[in-house]
Amino acid sequence: MVYLFLPLVNSCVEWYKRFMKELFTKPDGTPKRGLIMGVTNKRSLAWGITKLLHEQGAELALSYFPNEAVEKRIRPLAEDAGINNLIPCDVGDDDSIAAMANTLKEQWGNIDFVLHAIAFADHDALHKPFVETSREQFLSSLDISAYSLVATTQALAPLMVNGGSILTLTYLGATQVVPNYNVMGVAKAALEASVRYLAADLGTQNIRVNALSAGPVKTLAASGIGDFSSMLNYHKQTVPLKRLTSQDDVAGAGAYLLSDLSQGVSGTVHFVDGGAHVLGPTPVAAE
Ligand SMILES: NC(=O)c1ccc[n+]([C@@H]2O[C@H](COP(=O)([O-])OP(=O)(O)OC[C@H]3O[C@@H](n4cnc5c(N)ncnc54)[C@H](O)[C@@H]3O)[C@@H](O)[C@H]2O)c1
Repeated sequence: MVYLFLPLVNSCVEWYKRFMKELFTKPDGTPKRGLIMGVTNKRSLAWGITKLLHEQGAELALSYFPNEAVEKRIRPLAEDAGINNLIPCDVGDDDSIAAMANTLKEQWGNIDFVLHAIAFADHDALHKPFVETSREQFLSSLDISAYSLVATTQALAPLMVNGGSILTLTYLGATQVVPNYNVMGVAKAALEASVRYLAADLGTQNIRVNALSAGPVKTLAASGIGDFSSMLNYHKQTVPLKRLTSQDDVAGAGAYLLSDLSQGVSGTVHFVDGGAHVLGPTPVAAE
């Protein structure tokens, strides 16, 4: 009996695969092209999105922080997945951003989407009370984690001649106090506000700008946050879905926001956190 349904199931799977492929294919049949910024290893949230987009037929370039150790890690990772277009870019340096944009212009002429998955904060700033944040720690965190979205958008929006989608990654600490997130929370607040202003500026060019707010996931950047394992435990026990957010959860929503499935969505913060953002104060038993 079950065999009777197999052809139907197979054709549904084929239809789904074709449908997903079309998400990253242009009307003329050529693949959509996009830049992924912020892969440092296979745990990176950007890597989950890269793998999914690549499977779905997108043509990708990866930018990486120009450092030998980073390049040594990501080149084999990317090449194993069949991605050979790697471009160095330090988002703290305008010349480096301009050089990356030039390389893309020479290679492709235009692009369809950009993922910005970059953040930085000084280690000490994530382990001491926020009130002790120095000017230097504050400025470097806001520069690399928030202004870099503005700078890369300035450089890359001119390549989005047919419209496009720009997506950045953020966290709940932008709007709520999360222990140890400190200056990163302030940087994410600036990042989310930048998303809204950029969306307003670029809408007439059919360029959409959005943020995806992910739940805590164990990555290199996240391991710099003081007592991150407690953050993970708390999340797992309290959020509506009662589980951790995965790299795949983020990848699926990332593909939606970078594709035309979200063609009417701009200036928003889309939560992929198991529902953590809807929770209010947690009552504790009276003593
Ligand atoms: N992991 C989480 O729990 C979580 C949750 C919500 C949001 N996010 C955000 O997701 C994004 C990606 O972080 P991740 O967790 O995947 O960690 P990750 O360490 O894999 O990625 C951070 C990236 O930022 C890059 N970077 C830092 N400074 C740079 C610079 N000057 N120039 C160019 N690149 C630079 C690093 O090279 C790295 O690739 C970050 O914006 C982070 O805040 C992470």
